[in-house]
Amino acid sequence: MTARVRTGVLISGRGSNLQSLIDACANPDFPAEIACVISNVAGAEGLARAGHMGIATHVVAHGGFKLREEFDMELDAALSRNAVSIVCLAGFMRVLSDVFVEKWRGRLINIHPSLLPGFKGLDVHGRVITSGARISGCTVHFVVPELDSGPIIAQAAVPVLADDTEESLSARTLAAEHRLYPHALKLLAEGRVKLDGERAVFTNISDAEGTLINPPLD
Ligand code: GAR
Repeated sequence: MTARVRTGVLISGRGSNLQSLIDACANPDFPAEIACVISNVAGAEGLARAGHMGIATHVVAHGGFKLREEFDMELDAALSRNAVSIVCLAGFMRVLSDVFVEKWRGRLINIHPSLLPGFKGLDVHGRVITSGARISGCTVHFVVPELDSGPIIAQAAVPVLADDTEESLSARTLAAEHRLYPHALKLLAEGRVKLDGERAVFTNISDAEGTLINPPLD
């Protein structure tokens, strides 16, 4: 078996998407492994999830740095120390500097709880409900300097139901996120999706593995 791609996961909180990646990597046939988990928040729940699995964890507290670039250099140093090749943002609530993003270009991916390019930014689910949209979902994309704007790797759709609250839509979307992120990481780790200029380019993708997964309606 070929070496698994060493992956760093950046988190700020709960870490349920991190957990879905940890679970996927528990399968020895999965093409990536989690080499380290880094949080900008000490005590983030996700750090304990990683610690339980014996995964290296680091806290790089953003409050300790005057400049965004200095914080990002420390992140970069921790990732390099752990010989990471791919970086997954999983509920990492810090904007990264252009220098960091360019350095990791094509190897840095993020999950966002909407069908991008709609509903970028924070507080997505309330805005989706207010908009009257009937379909929402989640997106894994390559990170580029402009927020929530990079080329799309994979998306999953979920329905917006008539009686949805932010909580119920968030929970339904999160379940889809947990399926989508391992799928996207697998495509990247296997080299079946690459960032080519401003586009995500796919090779050897069957129809069943297409970029849109529709989880069954609940
Ligand atoms: C997830 O819903 C993720 O999509 C979202 O934060 C949540 C983190 O949950 N990310 C963003 O909004 C990034 N713009 P988790 O910590 O349980 O994975």
